[in-house]
Amino acid sequence: MKPLIVANWKMNPQTMAEAKQIFDLIKKGVKNAKNTEVVICPPFVFLSIISNVVNPRQERGLTTIKLGAQDVFWENPPAGGGAFTGEISAKMLKNLGCEYVIIGHSERRKYFKETDETINKKLKSALENGLKAILCIDKKSQIKNALKGIARQQLKNLILAYEPIFAIGTGKACSIEKAREMNFLIRKTIKTKIKILYGGSVNSQNASDFVKKAKFHGLLIGKASLEPKEFVKIIETV
Ligand code: PGA
Repeated sequence: MKPLIVANWKMNPQTMAEAKQIFDLIKKGVKNAKNTEVVICPPFVFLSIISNVVNPRQERGLTTIKLGAQDVFWENPPAGGGAFTGEISAKMLKNLGCEYVIIGHSERRKYFKETDETINKKLKSALENGLKAILCIDKKSQIKNALKGIARQQLKNLILAYEPIFAIGTGKACSIEKAREMNFLIRKTIKTKIKILYGGSVNSQNASDFVKKAKFHGLLIGKASLEPKEFVKIIETV
């Protein structure tokens, strides 16, 4: 399986010009990198500018860059029925060229009070509209509730990201042993062949251990994904 490296830019950067600059540097940096799938998840407001410059011609054997969103709303109203001020639907993302969407990030659970129930609704909407959903979890128990009522065949477009809260944005990544153990436990729980990522203080020093030793299929990267040199280095090491 091709490693999957996902950049979660969170609420950064603050201008379109900076977003474009970071993206261009990453794109240039990965040009000759081998066989990795890279997903950039910028804030909603930068999706369309980046969507215009994602390389549409994906060469075999080389790294490809795809577009993802950081969140999605669960409703998909018919024309004129979208009375959900401030929200973005899965259809809108799909029509913009997004292939992926992050759902249930711990910051959304914490600051926006997202629950397993709302995360489940978002997942359903994303999968029904043909997006690949990256479900973030910190505990094994969150998996079952989030996947309630989702048909097994839809799980082929599901990716799980194990993100221990203590490791997010703290500079203190999870130990490789603990991460590896969680990876196996998650795999046992889900009983389907899907990609499982690790996220939380990933950098170019520890990235390859999470893939090679802890056996994750890829990484979800916050802070380091905003530093093009560091991010490209991570891609090269895995
Ligand atoms: P971090 O964030 O890499 O800055 O720890 C990871 C994440 O929140 O997905």
